[in-house]
Amino acid sequence: MSVDLDPVTLSKKQVGEAAAAMVQSGSIVGLGTGSTAAFMIQALGARLRSGELQDIRGITTSFQGEVLARECGIPLTSLDVVDAIDIAIDGADEVDPNLNLIKGGGAAHFQEKLVEAFARQFVVIVDSGKLVEKLNLNFLLPVEVVPKALNPVAIAIEKLGGQPTLRMGVKKAGPVVTDQGNLILDVKFSDGIDNPAELEQTLNNIPGVLENGLFVGMTDLVLVGEVVDGKPNVREIRK
Ligand code: A5P
Repeated sequence: MSVDLDPVTLSKKQVGEAAAAMVQSGSIVGLGTGSTAAFMIQALGARLRSGELQDIRGITTSFQGEVLARECGIPLTSLDVVDAIDIAIDGADEVDPNLNLIKGGGAAHFQEKLVEAFARQFVVIVDSGKLVEKLNLNFLLPVEVVPKALNPVAIAIEKLGGQPTLRMGVKKAGPVVTDQGNLILDVKFSDGIDNPAELEQTLNNIPGVLENGLFVGMTDLVLVGEVVDGKPNVREIRK
């Protein structure tokens, strides 16, 4: 274990490795997106290289994950040719006490939900700073929108009481463009989200919305990384 990592990064690494250790030989594995999932993908690659793990195939949730999985030597497959995914592992931006999530900080929530909804077991890996009492008090809710529908969708979200902001690129002029070629509205509801299940459906019913970052009733297990008395620890929260 590296001693150079800050506590949050160390926690992400710990939970990434703990989740990778759950994967069994012969599995189809949904590979999440983001900095925590990246540690999990690297740990899976290391297990394959050591021979401890054999004959797995990954299904990625973003271009980022695809590049990293290939670098790590993880054989990939696709939703077109599998009947089921045995286990999917991914990070999250917020986790509430009912294990509902906000995801999409990396604009990958469309493919993430597609893959994770298809998995027999969905394991969420977070550092303890992601645990919240109520969703959207701090982290904005990402909504992926087809470009042509940007203005009507923004108006519809405002009518629901949300404040949408177009996500802008970093080191790139103009907005973030998703792996599907769409745009992201980051939405704030002033008192947070009272009914995640209802809002998830309501937002997805707006014409022009591809997917929003609420993941409701999908999580089977959360692995929480934390540093207790100076020592890294992984805690389990089950449904
Ligand atoms: C990607 O779109 C997201 O859903 C990520 O899974 C989420 O933002 C967590 O990212 P980190 O692990 O980098 O915090």
